[in-house]
Amino acid sequence: MEISKTFFVTGGAGFIGSAVVRHLIKDTTHKVINVDKLTYAGNLSSVADIVDSDRYHFEHADICDSIAMADLFKKHQPDVVMHLAAESHVDRSINGPGDFIQTNIVGTYTLLEAARTYWSSLATDKKTEFRFHHISTDEVYGDLHGTDELFTETTPYAPSSPYSASKAGSDHLVRAWLRTYGMPTVVTNCSNNYGPYHFPEKLIPLMILNALAGKPLPVYGDGKQVRDWLFVEDHARALVCVATQGEVGETYNIGGHNEKKNIEVVNTLCTLLEELAPNKPPGINQYTDLIRYVTDRPGHDLRYAIDASKIQRELGWVPEETFETGLRKTVKWYLENPSWWQAILDGSYQQAKKA
Ligand SMILES: NC(=O)c1ccc[n+]([C@@H]2O[C@H](COP(=O)([O-])OP(=O)(O)OC[C@H]3O[C@@H](n4cnc5c(N)ncnc54)[C@H](O)[C@@H]3O)[C@@H](O)[C@H]2O)c1
Repeated sequence: MEISKTFFVTGGAGFIGSAVVRHLIKDTTHKVINVDKLTYAGNLSSVADIVDSDRYHFEHADICDSIAMADLFKKHQPDVVMHLAAESHVDRSINGPGDFIQTNIVGTYTLLEAARTYWSSLATDKKTEFRFHHISTDEVYGDLHGTDELFTETTPYAPSSPYSASKAGSDHLVRAWLRTYGMPTVVTNCSNNYGPYHFPEKLIPLMILNALAGKPLPVYGDGKQVRDWLFVEDHARALVCVATQGEVGETYNIGGHNEKKNIEVVNTLCTLLEELAPNKPPGINQYTDLIRYVTDRPGHDLRYAIDASKIQRELGWVPEETFETGLRKTVKWYLENPSWWQAILDGSYQQAKKA
């Protein structure tokens, strides 16, 4: 029987964090403290399924607030920190990098210091078992130009955007807190996630919702940028596996073995929508007619692809979904849950948060 632990999940109201919270509550016996500032990307309706569990508790707090973080560590005495809170959208980081530096670098530093003060006060066995798991991205490695190269855990860092540079900085801080202070840390770097509860500014939900509304499907540049797609629930299982079984000081790359060009993703979505949502908006013959090529993102990385063999070999994790099964589930979820995304699109969710 698994011994139950208390997990302190930052960013648990976000896309990946909410999948981690739902997985921990539904599939394990662990307790969850969800610590989230509820920025535009945080949405508590993404955890509505599990909110009544007595193993779940929400704390509305900013990871940059050192006093709040110290209080929360003292109050909840976590065994494991899974740190996902971040500003996560590359385009927003290009238009305004300040929040990315603040939350991703200063916030990670603030959280590390609160964790270290708490960890230093623990008895020896609890201290040894404590884990600080930083959830990061494969974008820290920059991009690949060959067709068969893969990112491994030893690929040098070469971030291109303010977002990926801020995540690279936070990865370095986390590793330094192990090397310098001995606090037990692990890091994971993963590829592009997709799935239910994804904020509609990201490629896959944007394309689904624009297509359903008969709006243009904007594709950057020539659409030939390659991304390695990972179904978010596969990612959540991988993360909990690393947080509970990963070796201290190790890095694990997590990928879905699904390299696709952006334009292929958009075409596949259009094909799925033809089947699952055949009643198109007036004047639209085929969803693909809505595709529009737009000016490329500055500094746009060409190709990301992950070698995820270490996590498979050492921890036995493999993704359960193929791109085809995961994408079908995703499109169906958006078709069956309009209330979740309509509240975001019409602004009523933001107004409810301010109330
Ligand atoms: N989405 C991806 O494809 C992807 C890929 C690789 C790595 N990651 C990493 O995974 C993590 C989660 O990504 P996501 O896509 O779920 O992001 P998201 O933008 O959907 O969610 C981020 C969450 O963090 C919260 N948050 C932001 N600033 C905060 C602060 N200062 N204090 C407390 N909470 C704050 C937000 O309210 C939100 O709930 C991030 O660290 C991201 O860098 C994401």
